[in-house]
Amino acid sequence: MATRATFIAGPGRRVSGEIRVPGDKSISHRAAMLGAVASGITEIDGFLDGEDCAATLAALASMGVRIERPAATQVVMHGAGLRGLRAPSAALDLGNSGTAMRLLAGLLCGQGFDSTLIGDASLMRRPMERVAAPLRRMGANVRTSNGRPPLVIAGNRPLRGCAHHLDLPSAQVKSAILLAGLYAHGRTAVSEPQPSRDHTERMLAAFGVPVSRDDATVAIEGPATLTATRVDVPGDFSSAAFFIVAGLIAGAAPLLIRGVGINPTRTGLLNILRLMGADIRVRNAASRAGEPVADIEVMPGELRGVVVPHELVAGAIDEFPVLFAAAAVAAGETLVTGAAELRVKESDRIAVMAEGLAALGIPVETLPDGVRIRGGPVRGGVVESRGDHRVAMSFAVLAARASTPVLIRNVQNVATSFPGFAATARAAGLDLAAEG
Ligand code: S3P
Repeated sequence: MATRATFIAGPGRRVSGEIRVPGDKSISHRAAMLGAVASGITEIDGFLDGEDCAATLAALASMGVRIERPAATQVVMHGAGLRGLRAPSAALDLGNSGTAMRLLAGLLCGQGFDSTLIGDASLMRRPMERVAAPLRRMGANVRTSNGRPPLVIAGNRPLRGCAHHLDLPSAQVKSAILLAGLYAHGRTAVSEPQPSRDHTERMLAAFGVPVSRDDATVAIEGPATLTATRVDVPGDFSSAAFFIVAGLIAGAAPLLIRGVGINPTRTGLLNILRLMGADIRVRNAASRAGEPVADIEVMPGELRGVVVPHELVAGAIDEFPVLFAAAAVAAGETLVTGAAELRVKESDRIAVMAEGLAALGIPVETLPDGVRIRGGPVRGGVVESRGDHRVAMSFAVLAARASTPVLIRNVQNVATSFPGFAATARAAGLDLAAEG
């Protein structure tokens, strides 16, 4: 993107009231992809109107899928059926979205045509062998460039089901394998050392695919056909996370966030914040299209540093930037280890958060797989988000506790996951202006 937007975030502990957050990014991507290869019409409500999911829709449209958009958050997928996608006329550009690239890699290696997947500068640096290698084991022909995109996928390869044991928990890798498994002959199974988010498993079942699951393993039998369904996308817990922390560290009164997905593979942040002393209440729990949803109420309060237990890392993987912001104002020290994955997200989130926190007077000891942060007084200053949406939003929250305003640079990618973030932040009581 050409323009490099900036946030100017001012101090103040005024957060309170009631907000909603946009639809879940992970679930939106999956609904579009499964709807594209299902038989029949899939209506998606609450779809995330952000750039990452727009990249997925554009890729599917360029493979001949008819997509209607009655409203920004409503998408109607006219399913092409398992074998109905057509060869795209150009490389598929997935922008900033690692999820789009990795999941589509799984879907595309079962097709009867060749495809090439590219993205923006950040995505072109991200590791792709983690999906390419297991897909090759299934018979796919997937090439990377020294382990990175472009991903070049040759079609017309018969796929065979096999059992995969992942070294690291990864929902993107697991999902790519399962999507390829739809096209494979026989049983495709994936087991992980810790559970990663299970939206693909849940949604495959909602589309009528028999999914067998035990503790650490998920399996399907291919080839499998999908039957269109309705998908009601809950609010994105990872977007709510910024306001959960804002409500805690910058609250004047309780903050209620309505309609948030609380899938237990996503809510590790709640457990970590509770260990830090947070008072967070989950109300009105219900189920929507196989996913649990609730309202989350946050009481302002002081936090204390903790040693983050390893078993909570996978379930909070996207929330570490905002957890680091919480740790910066907590009493004492917070230690995170076992989170080396943070180094290969949209940015190196360990390095980029440490650099930004240091600029605001919070020294951080970086470790290969985590950080040690000692909470203290936060000053104003200039922070570079390095084009990482979650880093930008985390500093917008932390600025509420700074002594003077914080300028956050290079925030345009907030639109990849949280369109309208600045307006929602102001509605919640944060002092945030966006420029450029
Ligand atoms: C995602 C999985 C996570 C997460 C990413 C979205 C998904 O990555 O960080 O933002 O939708 O599958 P992992 O592959 O590390 O689980």
